[in-house]
Amino acid sequence: MATMTVQLGNRSYPIHIEAGLLEHTQLFAEYLQKRAVCIISDDIVAPLYLRKLARTLREFSPYHLTLPHGESHKDWQSLDSIFSALIKHGLGRDAVLLALGGGVVGDLTGFAAACYQRGIKYIQVPTTLLSQVDSSVGGKTAINHRHGKNMIGAFHQPLAVVADTNTLRSLPPRELSAGLAEIIKCGLIADVDLFLWLEAHVQEILEQNPEACEYAILRSCAIKSTIVEQDETEQGRRALLNLGHTFGHAIESALGYGEWLHGEAVAAGISMAAELAVRMDWLKASEYRRICRLLERAGLPNKPPTSITPMQILTYMRRDKKNRKGRMNLVLPRGIGKAEVTENFDPQLLGDTLAGNPL
Ligand SMILES: NC(=O)c1ccc[n+]([C@@H]2O[C@H](COP(=O)([O-])OP(=O)(O)OC[C@H]3O[C@@H](n4cnc5c(N)ncnc54)[C@H](O)[C@@H]3O)[C@@H](O)[C@H]2O)c1
Repeated sequence: MATMTVQLGNRSYPIHIEAGLLEHTQLFAEYLQKRAVCIISDDIVAPLYLRKLARTLREFSPYHLTLPHGESHKDWQSLDSIFSALIKHGLGRDAVLLALGGGVVGDLTGFAAACYQRGIKYIQVPTTLLSQVDSSVGGKTAINHRHGKNMIGAFHQPLAVVADTNTLRSLPPRELSAGLAEIIKCGLIADVDLFLWLEAHVQEILEQNPEACEYAILRSCAIKSTIVEQDETEQGRRALLNLGHTFGHAIESALGYGEWLHGEAVAAGISMAAELAVRMDWLKASEYRRICRLLERAGLPNKPPTSITPMQILTYMRRDKKNRKGRMNLVLPRGIGKAEVTENFDPQLLGDTLAGNPL
């Protein structure tokens, strides 16, 4: 089993990665220590894996709650269902929630754990590539608001992350590609070697080669952990992890949640950030083309959807959480393997990028 620790003082926690961890009773028992447990899942993941995990945890007699799947359900109503279930079962402050699912279940469960009785523990059990490489790590939890993505949330670190790579076998190809978007992002912001490795091995991930998947998950978690350790609550450097997300979140919000997958919107956002960087002479046109090519080979879009207008995207970008004093902050690549947050960009160049004007 590959294990690494996110070093955050008394909020430090391990990330365990291996095939078959859903059946590892001893591993879970170490964290649960006879406390009441409630497994939160969604209506796609629960039929696949809930019974297996409940069997693993049978000595804890876990409660469970199944939510409707998908981004459009990362909302107040799902959050309220979690609170209602916890209160109905009489769970107290010593209870532990288990988020069994993708980033939607993870973000919802984490936020519920942050709020319920002023904060209880939770364990991330991510089942999508995206959640194994990204969303289960770092303690960002949230729900969406109709006026913006992830607008209501909290920083609340999990007790542990337990990633069973066997769960990826049931993942539809489109979801696998969506996870690749966040791995490509990691390479772009901090690790040129990971980017080069992806150029050589992207097909192996799409074919679910276990060694390739485990390597990509480990590298991405290591990059994210290092950044989170330096800046847990995103006062500075952590914003780099949002490369492509200002554009991506705006695309998701403008399209309506669930139309494009989060990873797909991020992929288009990465290519738009890279295009703006070329216009600003931060990135070579040849590097931009390599980024677009890699996204394409990963089965991802490298342009925004044609059904929304540049003005719609801009409207949502103006609501981004990184904006300060009314000024938009963007994460842009400075070559491959390095990125910076900047508010110093020419709005005309952003306009050209949103409009898709030729480079
Ligand atoms: N907290 C963070 O730091 C962070 C980082 C990145 C993304 N996110 C959030 O994560 C969410 C996206 O996560 P996601 O891509 O995992 O989406 P998701 O949770 O919606 O999962 C994608 C789909 O796959 C299904 N699914 C999950 N596991 C499966 C499996 N093993 N087999 C078959 N189907 C499976 C789900 O039911 C869902 O329909 C977004 O809401 C995004 O904002 C959060």
